Amino acid sequence: MCGIIGYTGHRPAVPVVIEGLRRLEYRGYDSAGVGFVQGRELHILRAAGKLRQLENKLASCGTFLATSAIGHTRWATHGAPTEANAHPHKAFRGGVCLVHNGIFENYAEHKQILQGKGCVFSSETDTEVLVNLVADERVPGVSLLEAFALALRKAQGAYAVALMDQDEPDVLYAARHSAPLLLGIGRGENYVASDIPAFLPYTRDVVFLEDGEIVRITPASWQIFSLADLMPVSKSAQRIDWDMQSAQKDGFRHFMLKEIFEQPRAIAECMAGRTDASRTAVRIPEMDALPVPSRLRIIACGTSFHAGLWILPLLEEWAGIPTNVEIASEFRYRKPLLAPGETTLVISQSGETADTLAALRIARERHSPVIGLCNVVGSSIARETDAVIFTQAGPEISVASTKALCSQMLVLLLMALYWGQRQNSLPKGLAPEALRALDGLPAQLETALPVLRTEARALAWQHASARSMFFLGRGQSYPLALEGALKVKELSYIHAEGYAAGEMKHGPIALIEPDFPSFFLAPHDALFAKSRSNLEEVQARRGPVVVLTNSPKPGLHLDARQAWIIPDAWGPLKGFFFLPALQLFSYEAATYLGKDVDQPRNLAKSVTVE
Ligand code: AGP
Repeated sequence: MCGIIGYTGHRPAVPVVIEGLRRLEYRGYDSAGVGFVQGRELHILRAAGKLRQLENKLASCGTFLATSAIGHTRWATHGAPTEANAHPHKAFRGGVCLVHNGIFENYAEHKQILQGKGCVFSSETDTEVLVNLVADERVPGVSLLEAFALALRKAQGAYAVALMDQDEPDVLYAARHSAPLLLGIGRGENYVASDIPAFLPYTRDVVFLEDGEIVRITPASWQIFSLADLMPVSKSAQRIDWDMQSAQKDGFRHFMLKEIFEQPRAIAECMAGRTDASRTAVRIPEMDALPVPSRLRIIACGTSFHAGLWILPLLEEWAGIPTNVEIASEFRYRKPLLAPGETTLVISQSGETADTLAALRIARERHSPVIGLCNVVGSSIARETDAVIFTQAGPEISVASTKALCSQMLVLLLMALYWGQRQNSLPKGLAPEALRALDGLPAQLETALPVLRTEARALAWQHASARSMFFLGRGQSYPLALEGALKVKELSYIHAEGYAAGEMKHGPIALIEPDFPSFFLAPHDALFAKSRSNLEEVQARRGPVVVLTNSPKPGLHLDARQAWIIPDAWGPLKGFFFLPALQLFSYEAATYLGKDVDQPRNLAKSVTVE
């Protein structure tokens, strides 16, 4: 949420920064801006809306002489998404400007003090207070680095910030606390950014910054200091292996569609190296040093939370581990009791979700070993856990999470098998059977996806005019129903509710009427007969129903008004076909309604504020 890029080097900096901001668009934003020094003068251009609006403004100014710049895409927190509130913000006195991701919690008290000193503010933002604090600290004898550090020490909350000054046009300063920021190291040029894709066409050498670090970059150098005492911190760059192609659309109309179709590959890559040579046992070396949990608490947000709910029954049934699953923003604000030996598992695609990160820290304070399941190498969550397992799904750009969930489900399935092996609690032959089925899964899914897409489109066109929808399921289909509803809400802005099918009769069934469709997930699993009864209850109330089910077999038949036959698979692998069916339905509904699929309104890819 919010994107930052800063560049200093030998190229025209403004186009580099605009291009970098475009690659950060997936993070979500509602205004944008750029700051650069040209002719010894600081220039700031900002616009509400999309980058196109900013580019229209830039078109009438010559920016080609500037070789360093900072840019920002803002997701509004303090003040409406207007041009005046967009970043960069300039200090009232002096030529310093700053971009900021996060929330400066105690800004109001500092604003008052600064106003008392004659400072005039032109926006409603906390960021403008921060840049004026820097200017206020910069008295004779105090360098900009020192003034920046003094100001940041006064700021409570979360931030990633980048700063430039017209008196030192080739130097950029940046710092982070509980918000992502990294350095890209080039030849004769350096970058700071919120995420790797921002500078990926130019360099793959990355330095991950930690909380409490402050950096100074010039075209030829980069130095990191501790914010607490400005002592140098020694770090080296890591080469990351993402390529630009995997961060581009590859001919698909949207990143979301591309990422849905990447799921077979995500499964194959996620499996790689995680079984023994004979394909009879699961290997997860990252977890070998940790004991098998006596209890497990899974904590996550949004789609990642659904992954946790999905695996719960298998952790209990296969591995014998009592498990509960919690929403991070709820967990962090109670006083949770963690039993001795209880392990915490945090799940996060981005590894930067503020609530999940806070929950992780609480669990660690209470001496619970914490395992992280993340997609982004070097992310905060990945770095702060006792053991981290990467989903290896590749960059997920679309705000709507798709392949990340598929890969989370897969790793979690492997974890349930792995702990089951260590506990000796797996039914005989189950692991080899599961692994055989998993081997065939990528190819089956590859074949199924185009067909599912055609079917999803027909259904979406038929139902996209509904004002509300239910997604219903039981057992492992219940979290998938929640996910189906979440996707429809976030992409199509249609009200959709995911519900446990067995709970319908306890209230929600009252909503059923002829223009309120229900999408019923009824795979051929142990709960099929129960789902069939729940389906009949809904159909009896004359609600339109679409049943997602497997091809009828003797004894496994239901009387559905409209059926969507989903390819069948071994046991819990059925979910790997129901999931893309739901994703494709929401995608097709959103495109039919003309919505912004990759950047839905009000949303951000990585939710770095609480
Ligand atoms: C789902 O499509 C959303 N992008 C959202 O619910 C997301 O899963 C949630 O914000 C958690 O993100 P994380 O996995 O990066 O922690």
